[in-house]
Amino acid sequence: MKIKNICCIGAGYVGGPTMAVIAQKCPDIKVTVVDLNEARIAAWNDKDVSNIPIYEPGLNEMVGNVRGKNLFFSTEVDKAIEEADLIFISVNTPTKTYGTGKGMAADLKHIELCARQIAKVAKNNKIIVEKSTLPVRTAEALKSILDNTGNGVQFQILSNPEFLAEGTAVQDLLNPDRVLIGGESSPEGQKAIDSLVGVYANWVPKDRILTTNVWSSELSKLVANAFLAQRVSSINAISELCEKTEANVNEVAKAIGMDSRIGSKFLKASVGFGGSCFQKDILNLVYISKAFGLNEVADYWEQVIIMNDHQKRRFSKNIVQTLYNTVSGKKITFLGWAFKKDTNDTRESAAIYVADDLINEQANIALYDPKVALKQVLSDLDYLDTRKPSENEKHITSYNNAYDACKNSHAIAVLTEWDEFNDYDWQKIYDSMLKPAFVFDGRNLLDGDKLKAIGFVYQSIGC
Ligand code: NAD
Ligand code: UGA
Repeated sequence: MKIKNICCIGAGYVGGPTMAVIAQKCPDIKVTVVDLNEARIAAWNDKDVSNIPIYEPGLNEMVGNVRGKNLFFSTEVDKAIEEADLIFISVNTPTKTYGTGKGMAADLKHIELCARQIAKVAKNNKIIVEKSTLPVRTAEALKSILDNTGNGVQFQILSNPEFLAEGTAVQDLLNPDRVLIGGESSPEGQKAIDSLVGVYANWVPKDRILTTNVWSSELSKLVANAFLAQRVSSINAISELCEKTEANVNEVAKAIGMDSRIGSKFLKASVGFGGSCFQKDILNLVYISKAFGLNEVADYWEQVIIMNDHQKRRFSKNIVQTLYNTVSGKKITFLGWAFKKDTNDTRESAAIYVADDLINEQANIALYDPKVALKQVLSDLDYLDTRKPSENEKHITSYNNAYDACKNSHAIAVLTEWDEFNDYDWQKIYDSMLKPAFVFDGRNLLDGDKLKAIGFVYQSIGC
C-alpha cells in the first residue's frame, strides 16, 4: 500500500524533526504531528519559525519550507488518527518513578494510552509504527490492546527505532547510517514493512534500509545506545587512570581509535554523558536482563551507569578540592548547561549533577548557556528534589553573556562543548576574575596551553 497520510503522536525531539524530514522528502504525503501539550503545538505553529520549541541546526528552515503545505501540527489527536494510513508513536518513555521497576524499567503508560486511543478511534486498517524506544517485546502488548479493544479493524505493528542524535538531528535524518524496520513475517506483515520502506526510499538508499523481525529491531535500539554509552564510560574510566599516570587521554583515544577495529568516534573523555536516553535505555536493558534472571548481563551493563555517575561526581569533587577544600560563598561560573552542544535539551545533563554537588557545598553558580534559559535550569535542579526550590534559586544566577558570568568568579567550569567558548577573549576573562583563576574543562574543549600562558590554572579531563 502506498502511504498517503501519516500521523505522528508526540511532537518532541524525535517526532518534530523526523516528521519535518518525511514531509520535505515526500511531498505527496500529508504528515500531521499531534500532541496533548497545547503549548508545544502552539510553539510548533508559531508564525515566527525561529520560535519552534526545539533548537536543532537547520530545523527552522526545514519546518518553514513545509509547514502548512504537507506538514501540520495539531492537538486534534483523534482526527489525525482517523485520517492516517500509518501512525508513528513517538511519545516519551521515561524511566519509571513509581511502583515495580521504579528507577529502572521504562514507563509505558504513554504508549499504552496511545494504543487505546488508536483502537478506539480507528475505523479502517492501519499500520502502527513504534518510533519511541521501547523494551523488547512491547509490540506484543500493543497488539493485544489494539486487537482486543479495537473496532474489528486490522493493525500491523512495526518497530522503526530512531537513531538521530540531538544537535545533528536534521543531518542524521537526511543521511542515516541505516533505517531499521522490524515487522511480522506474515504476508500482511511484509506488506506493512514494504509500505514503510516505500516512505524512506524517497531519500534513503535501499541498501541502508534494514528489515528484521520485530524483536531484533526493538532490542537493537537499546543495544545501540548501550554500546555508544559504554564507549564513553570506557574512555572516561581510562581518563582517571591517565590522571594518575601522566598519560594523556586525548592521545590514548587517538592511538586506539586509529585501529580500524576500534574506530575513532565516541572516544571523547568528558564530565559524563547526559541526554534523555543513554541512562534510561541502559537501565531498561539492565531491568529486562534481571527480569530474565541474567544477573551477570545486568551487572555488566549497569557498570556503564555507575562509571558515568562516578565521572560526574569526581568532577565536582575535584573542583572543591582544588579550590582549597571550600567553595562556600564562592562564585563558580558554568559555561554551558545543555547535555551537548547545538541543542537546548538539558535532560540528564552532567551540569545538573555538578551544580547540585556544588550547591551542597554552598557555592554560588553563575551560568551562561547560549540556548538554555534560567527557568529550565531551575526546573532541572528542582526535579532532583535535593532542597527547596527557593534555595536553588538563591544559588544560581543566569547571565546572557559569558563575560559577565565570569566577572569576579573564582573558577570556570566548562560543562558543554559549545564552539563559541573557544572564540572568547580569554585574556579579558582572566583579567576580570579573582586570582588564582581556575578553569575546569569538563569537555577538553579549550586550548589549555594558551590558557596556562595567560595565567589560568587549567585542568581538563584525563590530561
Ligand atoms: P519528548 O518528551 O521530547 O516528546 C514526547 C512528546 O509526546 C511530548 O511532547 C508529550 O506531550 C507527547 N505525548 C505523550 N503522551 C502523549 C499522548 N498520549 N498523546 C499525544 N502526545 C503525547 O520525547 P523525545 O525526546 O521526542 O523522545 C520520544 C521517544 O523517542 C522516546 O522513547 C525516546 O527514547 C526516543 N528517542 C529519543 C531521541 C532523542 O534524541 N531525544 C532519539 C532517539 C529515540
Ligand atoms: C544518542 C545516540 O547517539 C543516538 O544515536 C540515539 O538516537 C539517541 O541517543 C537517543 O536514543 O536518544 P544523543 O543523546 O542525542 O544521541 O547525543 P550523543 O551525541 O550520543 O551524546 C550523548 C552524550 O554523550 C552527550 O552528553 C555527549 O556529550 C556525550 N559524549 C558523546 C561524550 O561524552 N563523549 C563522546 O565521545 C560522545
